[in-house]
Amino acid sequence: MSGDSRGAAHRTALDERPVTSDLLWQETQHRRLFELLDALEGDAELAPLILELHRYAEEHFTLEEAYMEAVAFPEAAAHRRAHDKFRAQLTELSAGQSDAEGMRGLTAMFLREWLTRHIYGTDKVLEAFIIDSAIK
Ligand SMILES: [Fe+2]
Ligand SMILES: [Fe+2]
Repeated sequence: MSGDSRGAAHRTALDERPVTSDLLWQETQHRRLFELLDALEGDAELAPLILELHRYAEEHFTLEEAYMEAVAFPEAAAHRRAHDKFRAQLTELSAGQSDAEGMRGLTAMFLREWLTRHIYGTDKVLEAFIIDSAIK
């Protein structure tokens, strides 16, 4: 398929991260989440970044959770709990904003570890289940 960019020779620095999913919607959204985390580790203004991280993570989790329901994913409850943990951590980060830069670094580390573990672990199980189902 001509639109398939996986394995393409031309990749920008931003695209060096391994593909997270063979589902286009999931891959695109994971990539965006990592971009937001990159920004958190950089010097982007904190408050709007946290708001966007909240908004986008919620958009992504909501879609994954809708898929879990649509395909009757057997591990949906545990997966949703994992999302809830991330939601709670982001809320904590927002609460600590007045405390600024130290908090930012620690939280970026935590979120990066969590996202990497979740996206390349828990989400891969869901991805395989969706691919095997009738709905993609
Ligand atoms: Fe995900
Ligand atoms: Fe997930």
